[in-house]
Amino acid sequence: MSGKTRVAILISGRGSNMAALIEAAKATDYPAEIALVLSNVETAAGLEIARAAGIATKIISHKVFASREEFDAAVDAALAAARIELVCLAGFMRIQSEGFVRKWEGRMLNIHPSLLPAFKGTKVHEQAIAAGVRISGCTVHFVVPELDSGPIIAQAAVPVLPGDTPDTLAARVLEEEHKLYPQALKLVAEGKVVLRDGRAVFV
Ligand code: GRF
Repeated sequence: MSGKTRVAILISGRGSNMAALIEAAKATDYPAEIALVLSNVETAAGLEIARAAGIATKIISHKVFASREEFDAAVDAALAAARIELVCLAGFMRIQSEGFVRKWEGRMLNIHPSLLPAFKGTKVHEQAIAAGVRISGCTVHFVVPELDSGPIIAQAAVPVLPGDTPDTLAARVLEEEHKLYPQALKLVAEGKVVLRDGRAVFV
């Protein structure tokens, strides 16, 4: 028994945030262990990274389910089978059903590449550049049914520089994501931040 919080990471693609969490969790004093990486996309590059790190992986394609609820039920069953206590969404490109989100409320985190509540949804860096903001960044938040709207756990900021393209800004933000997500997961796993009355509270 390691006594560490058992975490599943849900991905759909590249998995660089997943890789950052796996790396951080290697430290003996890190309070969480990555017990499962689950992807809804069979070809997600992150799966290879997880396998190479010796982490259990599972593919559940949303395409074989008739409804969002049925897909979420299959994911939930996989999480239960792996005795998962906390879920980290990391580039997981599925909207989840309200029932699933409510079940995991306070125990499911997401990372978003903007300073929420600005620039929700997709094409985030395009939105930031179009708005002319001088600072952007990333946010780790608890997941609630409304997209990209959950209580904020942690944020990091980066400058938006003259001449930035969505790609150059994305790269600068991503570097911060890789530092922020492990810090935020640590806070939640060790019980220092909890979801209380709709806010992320330091206890
Ligand atoms: C990241 O920018 C994350 O903030 C967003 O999707 C992207 C996933 O990238 N939710 P990766 O798969 O972690 O490399």
